[in-house]
Amino acid sequence: MWKYIEKLFNIYNKIREFLYKKRLTKDISRDNIIMKSISNKEKYNLKKVRTSKGEENMNLLEMNPHETKYIPLIGSPIGGSTASFLYNKIFASFGVNAMSYPVEVKKGELPEFLSAMKYMNAPGFIATSPHKQDLTAFMDEIDDASRIFRSVNAVHVDKNGRMEGHGLDGKGVIGAFDDNKVDLKGKEVLMLGAGGISGIFASELAQRGIRKLTILNRTEEKARYVADTLASCTEVVTASGAYTAENARKAAKTADILIQATTLGMKGSGHDHPDLSFMEALPRHAWVMEAVSNPPETAVIKKAKELNLNTVMGMEMLVNQVKAICRFILGWEAPQEAKQIGIDFYCDLFHYRR
Ligand SMILES: NC(=O)c1ccc[n+]([C@@H]2O[C@H](COP(=O)([O-])OP(=O)(O)OC[C@H]3O[C@@H](n4cnc5c(N)ncnc54)[C@H](OP(=O)(O)O)[C@@H]3O)[C@@H](O)[C@H]2O)c1
Repeated sequence: MWKYIEKLFNIYNKIREFLYKKRLTKDISRDNIIMKSISNKEKYNLKKVRTSKGEENMNLLEMNPHETKYIPLIGSPIGGSTASFLYNKIFASFGVNAMSYPVEVKKGELPEFLSAMKYMNAPGFIATSPHKQDLTAFMDEIDDASRIFRSVNAVHVDKNGRMEGHGLDGKGVIGAFDDNKVDLKGKEVLMLGAGGISGIFASELAQRGIRKLTILNRTEEKARYVADTLASCTEVVTASGAYTAENARKAAKTADILIQATTLGMKGSGHDHPDLSFMEALPRHAWVMEAVSNPPETAVIKKAKELNLNTVMGMEMLVNQVKAICRFILGWEAPQEAKQIGIDFYCDLFHYRR
């Protein structure tokens, strides 16, 4: 009996092997045809989308490597960043011949990285902590808000090596609030953190008509810089201070929105908020937004859920930036469904159920 089963199993394996080889040969000859027929016009659109869920419809063999646009994602520590996974998922879903990959670039190493860019066939790059502030000094062109608030997270590099930078993180925040139908007009916001994203968040929130912004940060001068700069160019009432449990509790009492914009709680950062009990002072109607996307459910989000407060997660901000970043770096207009593909992808990646 066992011998008979084993024989059947061997035959089954042989058939599988035969079919696999046949498919491979067919795929390779088809790829050759695709490679020959790629024109410049088609370089971002090798294949059409099959499903709105973003079924994988592209693989490395289907891309013409001479035309692949490589988009480094730089930061330190970069090990916990999932943004490249997200971009690659979206490129694959829509047949875009581009690829993002994470690169560990430590603080102070930007000059070396920037000079290496010319060898990379890269139309630009994406930057995360700790480079957003430092990058502003290297740009040939930069918009006012990104310059004033010292925040660049997306850089376009033209054929002559000329660099144009923008801080597009704010688009993610506003998009995520819009998706959750949060009306920002007249609201009081408490923001923790005054790093690279803080000023650009503040600038976008001001444009949406918030009434007051309090910024608390470990390094108090940085919080003061963002608060004072915002107050000098908008009508928003601002306050700043050190991020202590006492200051946080005081500001939380009247805040409609809490934005967690530090690296505390981020995977690989090695640190977290020492005491979140101040969140208990937030009004019942308050929204809590988390910038950190890995892990999806940080201590801040967990605490907000315990307190039955409304939450906006880091992944929601991240997917809301995709459109702006793809348009700016690649000149490619991502379809509307890219956002849902991104959210589904994140939930799968982290085995997370929303
Ligand atoms: N979801 C998204 O779409 C999205 C987009 C952008 C960024 N992010 C995330 O947002 C976070 C902040 O990004 P960033 O570019 O602003 O980073 P950054 O420039 O490196 O700033 C880090 C911030 O965290 C604070 N911090 C770091 N270690 C601390 C500690 N041990 N105790 C207290 N505060 C500490 C810093 O305070 P000091 O000023 O005192 O150093 C600063 O305010 C990162 O986790 C990033 O991944 C998410």
